[in-house]
Amino acid sequence: MIDFVLNGETVSVDVEPDTPLLWVIRDTLGKTGTKFGCGVAACGACTVHVDGVATRTCVLPVEAVAGSSVTTIEGIAAGETRHRVQQAWIDEQVPQCGYCQSGMIMAVTALLAENPSPTDADIDDAVTNICRCGTYGRIRSAIHRAARA
Ligand code: FES
Ligand code: FES
Repeated sequence: MIDFVLNGETVSVDVEPDTPLLWVIRDTLGKTGTKFGCGVAACGACTVHVDGVATRTCVLPVEAVAGSSVTTIEGIAAGETRHRVQQAWIDEQVPQCGYCQSGMIMAVTALLAENPSPTDADIDDAVTNICRCGTYGRIRSAIHRAARA
């Protein structure tokens, strides 16, 4: 059994230790907001927070997070109150197909926790996720809106 905290609750999973965390989150624990894109840590669709750090989970063995605190897109709102990044995403109408967006939001929430007022260059450095729909301009606007909130 491997124990870790998922969105504030301790979970124990009986899986092979080298199972990618993404599949444990989605298939074992049923949190499907985190998406599979490339499988080679290149696109960012699978991004969650591990102890507050934005982390791509498609190549991360679950044993690497034993004892850690993992937060997924399902865990960033405070009850019924959206995270300010989620609200900014709505206000700026960011998503197109939406597939990349939970990973984007997880990358952005980690960035703003570290850097409350990022410049465009800071954003470019920190948020390297890929969006096939090309929503980058609105993402940038939403990040600045969330930073002001
Ligand atoms: S699915 Fe993990 S980075 Fe693309
Ligand atoms: S909104 Fe479609 S891939 Fe980003």
